[in-house]
Amino acid sequence: MQFRVVPCMRQKYNCVLGVTLLAMSAVASAQTCDPERLGNTPTKRFIIHDDATVTDRVTGLVWTRCAVGQTWADGTCNDTSIKQLRSWFSWQGALDYVANMDHKRPGWTGYSTPIAGVTNKEELKEWRLPTIQELRTLIDRHCENPAINLEVFPNAPAWGFWSASEFSEGPDYAWQVDFKTGETSAHLKVGVSYHLRLVSGSLIPTSKKREAATESAAARWDDGIHDPANPDLELLQHPDDVTGTLPRDGRGEEDWAKALIDGVIKPRASRDGAAEMVVWDQDLIFKETATMPHVRFPHKLHSMWLACENCHDQIFPARFGQSDISMASIYQGRDCGVCHGKVAFSPNNCERCHSIEHAGSGPRWW
Ligand code: HEC
Ligand code: HEC
Ligand code: HEC
Repeated sequence: MQFRVVPCMRQKYNCVLGVTLLAMSAVASAQTCDPERLGNTPTKRFIIHDDATVTDRVTGLVWTRCAVGQTWADGTCNDTSIKQLRSWFSWQGALDYVANMDHKRPGWTGYSTPIAGVTNKEELKEWRLPTIQELRTLIDRHCENPAINLEVFPNAPAWGFWSASEFSEGPDYAWQVDFKTGETSAHLKVGVSYHLRLVSGSLIPTSKKREAATESAAARWDDGIHDPANPDLELLQHPDDVTGTLPRDGRGEEDWAKALIDGVIKPRASRDGAAEMVVWDQDLIFKETATMPHVRFPHKLHSMWLACENCHDQIFPARFGQSDISMASIYQGRDCGVCHGKVAFSPNNCERCHSIEHAGSGPRWW
């Protein structure tokens, strides 16, 4: 069924009629999700509260599960007859609605109709219209019609939602997200009617350093892996912020071994955490190292987080002295070089492997 927006631009009643048609067509067509693409808003991303609000663990924002005009009952958002009148807004209408909300009233939960039996136990939230950056964080990129997680936001309309952000290039336009397709665009503030979803809180600052300098922030993301132009980057944790707390070795590389031993990281033995690691406590000393100190290969440290199958027998036979390991093979990505230089400290970090001094190894030079 085609729904035309044009009549809404002129006449209120046509608009209401159009809305009715839309509501019917929305029931008829169901959400489609592309199994090839990974959903970016899995239900586990949200903490679901009993007052029909959710906290997004990624952004820290709190959202109402229902759009304005829907009512919460029986674990879902219901379209009531008042929805036709109370859930469609021009941009200014949206601002007015939010300005006049009675949300300081005790028991107000973010909805125009209070939820039976629910009082807002937490501190009163400052509900407001989301910015476009905030609203975009709810788009699920593997679903359409609507492009949002329906477990978290049940019965969410597959239609445009206003943001509070105005279009910098033209004062007549404001940003909206079309939750039918997941696309973002600037629309005329008048003439079109969109939905509202309220938010409270503020985006978790992903990095203190980034707050200070945005210019260098862009440079920081320009690492050949991330797209520095993507506005959603700010929602990601920068790798440096993750590894920043890790202990470092003498050359400033992350010392994962120490991190593991000191308990800074606690990797699981298996996905469900049920398995246990078999730790093999045996050091092997490789002595064909010319004037370099001998190499101590600590089985214990490796098997604390690598199952035996990672190395035996594909990379090394379980018998000492069988492999023909050399620096050349390591730099070519074989033997120890399967990991070292890729997922473990680099071969340039000589002294971490060549740690056993001997008569011929001369004075330490590192
Ligand atoms: C990170 C790689 C790695 C992992 C993981 C690993 N090993 Fe080894 N293992 C080696 C290397 C290297 C050798 C020596 C091979 C050579 O010299 O050719 C070796 C040799 C051995 C040997 C022969 C020792 C000797 O004195 O001849 C045994 C036994 C062994 N591994 C058992 C295990 C067990 C059991 C596990 C799992 C708990 C394990 N390894 C995990 C790398 C690994
Ligand atoms: C990931 C561990 C590791 C690192 C890091 C490492 N080596 Fe080695 N190195 C080895 C092993 C294993 C051997 C082989 C010893 C054997 O077969 O007895 C070796 C052998 C050597 C040899 C003997 C000749 C050859 O090429 O095999 C020299 C010289 C040497 N390393 C120098 C260095 C220098 C210099 C660095 C730093 C730039 C370095 N290594 C870093 C593990 C390492
Ligand atoms: C399957 C992957 C893998 C292979 C193969 C491998 N390592 Fe490692 N190794 C690791 C990881 C992961 C760490 C810990 C990460 C880090 O500290 O960068 C580590 C850490 C180490 C450490 C540091 C121990 C400590 O207490 O600080 C040494 C020494 C070492 N490896 C030597 C070797 C040598 C020598 C070889 C070849 C005989 C080898 N590794 C082969 C994955 C591997």
